[in-house]
Amino acid sequence: MGRDAIAGRLKRLAMEPPIRLLVRSVLKRLPAQASTRALWDISDRPGYLLGLLHAARRAARDGIGAIAAIEFGVAGGHFLVALEREAQAVERELGVAIHVYGFDNGAAGLPAFIGDHRDHPDKWRPGDFPMDEDLLRSRLGPRTTLVIGDVAETVARFFDDAEVPPVGFIAFDLDLYSSTRQALRILALPGRRTLDHVPLYFDDVEHSISHRFAGELLAIDEFNEFYDDMKIDRWRGVAGDRPFPEASYLRKMYMAHDLRAIAARALDRGPLERRLVSAPAGGAVQSGR
Ligand SMILES: C[S@@+](CC[C@H](N)C(=O)[O-])C[C@H]1O[C@@H](n2cnc3c(N)ncnc32)[C@H](O)[C@@H]1O
Repeated sequence: MGRDAIAGRLKRLAMEPPIRLLVRSVLKRLPAQASTRALWDISDRPGYLLGLLHAARRAARDGIGAIAAIEFGVAGGHFLVALEREAQAVERELGVAIHVYGFDNGAAGLPAFIGDHRDHPDKWRPGDFPMDEDLLRSRLGPRTTLVIGDVAETVARFFDDAEVPPVGFIAFDLDLYSSTRQALRILALPGRRTLDHVPLYFDDVEHSISHRFAGELLAIDEFNEFYDDMKIDRWRGVAGDRPFPEASYLRKMYMAHDLRAIAARALDRGPLERRLVSAPAGGAVQSGR
């Protein structure tokens, strides 16, 4: 058996249910790289780390040197600080620069609601989650920009700044349907800059009160109905080949696909191959890579 095959078997063994908890508790005590932590869900916000890592890998593959990572809905900033920290770790590992942006209404908190069930007045009220902007700014480093104001206005101006790199990852935590609908326009603005496939995290799709006729789920459905060039789907296969495929945050991971950019792609490489490989003595011959 070759070294790769042995490494593959050991990795699969480490991910077995009784052993995986032990492996993770050992890894938590080690200075593990971002990619190892992303696989083992060792992060304050594993969904953010996973999205950042996927985006940075794609950017590196496409020769893109810098990407933007965005959190919509910052409040006190606990998870924006986590996003900043993970951006630094991913940047260090993959060499792709990551600029972080946090969009929020600031001290005003949640804005006025749309007036019916779609903003979930059964769960939130206007004014929830006011931000202490000075305190948060004192905790943020130079890679992070706070964009204060209603996203209905701030999103439209985002790409006016030529320094903003292509958007690689977005987390949505605005709570409201009306706000999420406005924020999603960032993926469809004329003159937008994004990767072809942008990992998305939606914080409010897994509550017992969540349904497709309100909140983030309705905003996603309407986005897909309205825009032809960009479509949002669940992140297919995100739970595959992971030690903890049942982790609930994985059900909050989506992907935006830029259909126009994908259609314009033509791969500059030779043909793929699937070769015949010999099975062990007496076994059948099967196809393989
Ligand atoms: C649940 S909080 C975000 C929590 C945050 N991600 C954390 O780390 O704890 C939702 C935030 O979305 C913001 N928000 C909702 N609608 C908005 C809008 N239209 N424009 C700007 N910010 C908005 C609110 O100000 C609030 O701070």
